[in-house]
Amino acid sequence: LETGCLSIVVLGASGDLAKKKTFPALFNLYRQGFLQSNEVHIFGYARTKLSDDELRDRICGYLSHGKENAEDLTKFLHLIKYVSGSYDDEEGFRSLDKAISEHEVSRNSTEGSARRLFYLALPPSVYPSVCKMIKNYCTNKSDLGGWTRIVVEKPFGKDLASAEQLSSQIGELFDEPQIYRIDHYLGKELVQNLLVLRFANRFFLPLWNRDNIDNVQIVFREDFGTEGRGGYFDEYGIIRDIIQNHLLQVFCLIAMEKPISIKPEHIRDEKVKVLQSVVPIKDEEVVLGQYEGYTEDPTVPDNSNTPTFATVILRIHNERWEGVPFILKAGKALNSRKAEVRVQFKDVPGDIFRCQKQGRNEFVIRLQPLEAIYMKLTVKQPGLEMSTAQSELDLSYRQRYQGITIPEAYERLILDTIRGDQQHFVRRDELKEAWEIFTPLLHRIDRGELKAVPYKPGSRGPTEADELLQRAGYVQTHGY
Ligand code: BG6
Repeated sequence: LETGCLSIVVLGASGDLAKKKTFPALFNLYRQGFLQSNEVHIFGYARTKLSDDELRDRICGYLSHGKENAEDLTKFLHLIKYVSGSYDDEEGFRSLDKAISEHEVSRNSTEGSARRLFYLALPPSVYPSVCKMIKNYCTNKSDLGGWTRIVVEKPFGKDLASAEQLSSQIGELFDEPQIYRIDHYLGKELVQNLLVLRFANRFFLPLWNRDNIDNVQIVFREDFGTEGRGGYFDEYGIIRDIIQNHLLQVFCLIAMEKPISIKPEHIRDEKVKVLQSVVPIKDEEVVLGQYEGYTEDPTVPDNSNTPTFATVILRIHNERWEGVPFILKAGKALNSRKAEVRVQFKDVPGDIFRCQKQGRNEFVIRLQPLEAIYMKLTVKQPGLEMSTAQSELDLSYRQRYQGITIPEAYERLILDTIRGDQQHFVRRDELKEAWEIFTPLLHRIDRGELKAVPYKPGSRGPTEADELLQRAGYVQTHGY
């Protein structure tokens, strides 16, 4: 890491995201020695009036610690100071600036090497005013070096127009290299592995196209509903919450062309290109569902048509992928919690073993839980008979990488923001293209032109989704 005074400001410090994700990630980074220099300070900012100790008490319970790191915990908590103020009033931000500057001066950072990271753990409705306040009152003003960076979370808007508006408002205040749009799926270990798998292995290079691949599924399932978040969720729905961002990012990494290098801009250029090649979604290639009991949440209107489940097929108009369905599927309150990519290959031509009905070759990347990469293939069943069976080449992380802790997505991404690496963040034009793809469909759903069908909580989701999968060419195989 660069040296120089570093101030990390968590805005919305007493909120859920900050408590559950941001502070725990910072603590983990601290424990691993990334924030240990005495030049680092953390500031919490929120409207509630709290003392430093009251904020520390609120977050302490969320930081995983035992006897062995009790000392780390105490030291970490002492790095945190609290400033209270509103999100649209200069007084609070002036006090925040004063607190940061005092820290910088006390650490002899007057030469201007001060670095200021603002993490907006806040609802997007306040992003424009908060960014304006930061810009006017809290940026690192020295022109001798150092930087000011802003980290924002989804949802970035509700559709193309609102997202573009938000982007312009923030873009007038900060340059693109200062803005870090988090999609936490990009911080997951196996998502980060996708480019390596695709472009560092001779196996896949010649096979990764329409001649060999029949269909691709990108699936997210959760075995719990919208518990406690009904109000937020009902305004957004599963497409805006999961598909338009998390699954679409995975889609890009699976479908994009090889970038000319691994520089962040080269990778993001390719992601934009593949997004631009997606053709308009057809209504008959969409299934929406809503789990029974969803509207019992008092914050959800009784007549809500918001989908808690969706299967959407994306099709790409280019030489590599013409005709290959990319089936993006996400649902809440289903029978399991899992996120995976399943690349299904075509049947072997001239199948002399007559074994194709046992199943096709599949390449599966299980993002979570129990991270794994495996290939389903046909082998001879051991024994005297010449019969075939489906089996797996299996790289399960638990077994292969025993003793290695896989970092949390937020931990990795916050470290990237400090390092200034934007590879795993969403660029403005990527975001625009992502909204271009889904906005017409979302508007049709919002107008009630497409209906969510009911499904039982704890089920696989609507049976219509399985039918769509089959129509798209997916062949169910058994085993894994
Ligand atoms: C969030 C969504 O972005 O991702 C939540 O808003 C969802 O609805 C969560 O539960 C899932 O994240 P993960 O890392 O647990 O798969």
